[in-house]
Amino acid sequence: MEFVKYEQEGFVGIVTIDRQKALNALNSQVLEELSDTFDAIDLETTRCVILTGAGEKSFVAGADIGEMSTLTKAEGEAFGKKGNDIFLKIEKFPIPVIAAVNGFALGGGCEISMSCDIRICSENAVFGQPEVGLGITPGFGGTQRLARLVSPGMAKQLIYTARNIKADEAYRIGLVNAVYPLEELLPAAKKMAAGIAANAPIAVRNCKKAINDGLQTDIDSAVVIEEKLFGDCFETEDQKAGMANFLEKDKEKKLKVVPFQNK
Ligand code: CAA
Repeated sequence: MEFVKYEQEGFVGIVTIDRQKALNALNSQVLEELSDTFDAIDLETTRCVILTGAGEKSFVAGADIGEMSTLTKAEGEAFGKKGNDIFLKIEKFPIPVIAAVNGFALGGGCEISMSCDIRICSENAVFGQPEVGLGITPGFGGTQRLARLVSPGMAKQLIYTARNIKADEAYRIGLVNAVYPLEELLPAAKKMAAGIAANAPIAVRNCKKAINDGLQTDIDSAVVIEEKLFGDCFETEDQKAGMANFLEKDKEKKLKVVPFQNK
């Protein structure tokens, strides 16, 4: 891989977009490498993924404007599909994905962060959907996910005005969960990922699926989705060990890390 790096630390996978000469902008090659990287993650040994950008300036500065500049209508639509396919892969990835946003998250950069389960960012982060200033719409899910994550009115204001916002405003509108000094961002993401990885992996995966699938439908159907995924946890080693530890009231056992199974 030229532009996407992967490291494994315990149960946590770290995916880094590394195309620093273009502030980690997403061209076709980066998108393909991202797709291949997620496909190659071993779900037997990985329980949480962190997605970040290389360097201290930019998470992802958007889709590659040079590559887009000469596209026809049909090619533009196909480029949008290419981005949407990989972002959907991240959104539906069976285990949680945390975006550690270390600088510019513009256009496709904001959009890829929104396909992750959780966003945290550094104090120098800048979010925005500048596309209308370039004569296009947000094309990697921005018109859909921003309106779902923050209020529709706020999403429309940000998209129509193409105004960039800093980390504190992204926090205030609920786009990110927390803001850290740059040097503390990755350690904080790793700490959160390790906390997730210490919990029962089947239960965590089922929570992700229940939340994601439930948000796509009405509440009556959503609670049925929840019931099935709740029931699916029973009879697993995780459920038996987790509940037995509690019921045995054995302090040592309660504190012991349960040898959680994976699926
Ligand atoms: N595509 C291609 N190249 C990009 C890029 C992008 N999105 N963003 C930055 N770069 C390149 C620059 O062209 C420059 O390359 P050269 O050194 O070869 O000239 C290099 O990265 C460094 O960028 P700047 O010199 O511009 O750095 P800066 O600090 O002055 O500005 C910035 C930083 C404000 C992020 C500015 O680079 C910028 O505005 N970038 C574009 C942001 C943008 O509009 N993103 C949305 C793209 S459209 C999109 O994403 C569509 C979609 O929804 C799918």
